[in-house]
Amino acid sequence: MIDIASGHPAIDRYLAERYEQVRGMSSRFAAAICGHLIRRQSALGVAGELVEIGTFEGRFFIAMALGLAPGEKAVGIDRFDWPDAGVEDRFVANCVAHGIPPDRCLRWKADSREISTGDLRKKLGERPVRFVHIDSHHSRDCLTNDLDLVHGVLHRDGIICLDDMLHPGYPMVVKAVFDYLARHPAMRLLCIIDREDIVAAPKFLICRRDSLSLYEPDLLSAFSRFHFTLNADMETYFALVLTPRPRLAEIG
Ligand SMILES: C[S@@+](CC[C@H](N)C(=O)[O-])C[C@H]1O[C@@H](n2cnc3c(N)ncnc32)[C@H](O)[C@@H]1O
Repeated sequence: MIDIASGHPAIDRYLAERYEQVRGMSSRFAAAICGHLIRRQSALGVAGELVEIGTFEGRFFIAMALGLAPGEKAVGIDRFDWPDAGVEDRFVANCVAHGIPPDRCLRWKADSREISTGDLRKKLGERPVRFVHIDSHHSRDCLTNDLDLVHGVLHRDGIICLDDMLHPGYPMVVKAVFDYLARHPAMRLLCIIDREDIVAAPKFLICRRDSLSLYEPDLLSAFSRFHFTLNADMETYFALVLTPRPRLAEIG
């Protein structure tokens, strides 16, 4: 098991003892880094709701929700129809079993392509979203939809986390991200969290360029031993890369 922690006691207990018991696809490595960012936001006074599109049985959702600050809620959106209708009950049971108070957690059975930003804003009680994990249908259309859906409700210092980027099974999905970044030049790729495995693939973290200074130096210092020093070449800037086993090719 990779020796990594978020620094948030409740999240770290879950990551150490229970994370792998909840069926799901996100890596523990990524969940620890995201938990760290959620803790960092709370420390900075960045307040708002936490959202996941594509909760499945709650593995990553629970890690996020354990980082809720007082007065905040976690909203989980899923069609809850795959691989069978029982997934919704399993999601609820997992949230209860892992200590998410039902009144802090809002379950929304819906297809994200049928939700408008106005619907989402209403569901959020007009509160901004400070951290969102998008992990729904791995297609360009759906990711474009989901990015547009959350963009309008994102906190000024909010973070968008995207699952299964650069996954060999979904090579076209990343196009939706670059199109989004071109449409929104104020947004930047903050960090690439590298894969643990083919079923625990990389995540992208995106935030406003003006918010980078809140997160980038902090990530670098908290996770320096996972830093891939060449970083990610975005042509006009470099984004941070964190990888479970950083190394460079040996060239003699
Ligand atoms: C890969 S699983 C999510 C895994 C989970 N986030 C984790 O880390 O363990 C993808 C989920 O997205 C849901 N989904 C797919 N397309 C969706 C859509 N358009 N709207 C809402 N949920 C969707 C599926 O039902 C499935 O539960």
